[in-house]
Amino acid sequence: MSSPMNLVVFLARAGVGSRRACDELVRDGKVTVNGEVVTFPRQKVEPADVVAVDGAPVALKTLRYVLVNKPRGVASTRSDPHAERVIVDLVPDGRTLFPVGRLDVDTTGLIVLTNDGALANRLMHPRYGVQKTYAVRVRGKVTKRALATLREGVVLEDGVTAPAEVTLRKQSAKTALLDLTIHEGRKRQVKRMFLALGLPVEELHRRRYGPLSDKGLSPGGFRELGGDDVDALRRAAEEVTAAVAGEAEGEPMSLAAAEAAADEAFEEGAPEVDREPSGNGPAESGSAST
Ligand code: URA
Repeated sequence: MSSPMNLVVFLARAGVGSRRACDELVRDGKVTVNGEVVTFPRQKVEPADVVAVDGAPVALKTLRYVLVNKPRGVASTRSDPHAERVIVDLVPDGRTLFPVGRLDVDTTGLIVLTNDGALANRLMHPRYGVQKTYAVRVRGKVTKRALATLREGVVLEDGVTAPAEVTLRKQSAKTALLDLTIHEGRKRQVKRMFLALGLPVEELHRRRYGPLSDKGLSPGGFRELGGDDVDALRRAAEEVTAAVAGEAEGEPMSLAAAEAAADEAFEEGAPEVDREPSGNGPAESGSAST
């Protein structure tokens, strides 16, 4: 920090939480500056000041955002004794980053890795997260009724899904290729939605994550996100926050807590589809869709 900044801005840039969450922490008397409790969120802090939350010192850090096109067979966690590879190992110094949300091991496509806990927390809201578009190959015939149900909401064991955007791209004798856009982030949601309609998912690829697309990113590829992309992600997160009218913020969450929440939401006992996909992402021509 080269010049003074607001306490709340400092806390947000240290990855403690969103500005609003940090504002609350300050007002609740949880933050000290040089050992003194400060309850005024816009108090200026200087480079030499020691800021602590609940007694633990916090420091500014360089925030990093990486977009990865996860290949099949890679776990989207930081560590998994059962997986051959984990996503953080696909990027240099990836072990300092956390995946925002989860994809199944057999799903391909976009995942953001970051050390910005505040942004990750907002993007991952389970009921109204950022919009995600999937290319889906299913087995069976997709009827008009099935499309209508996807658009209205599918009844799952954990409740009716929010209306999805869906386009049928191609129907062949045995399989169909669709684009599906959802903003919820429930465990194995896409596979369960289609299975509930009698259409087992054979291949699943996330081709858009909020404002980001997989264009130019081959499976296993990654790119560091800079200015415009990060601004666009931040705007997407703002929309999430607005959509849930403040509920998305909750308590400020550390990245470790965000990761634990993603695990809980995504990895517990959801019904599996009955067949492993075989290709490298759904594509009309049989080539990879990325
Ligand atoms: N929905 C699923 O069923 N699986 C994924 O990996 C992502 C979304």
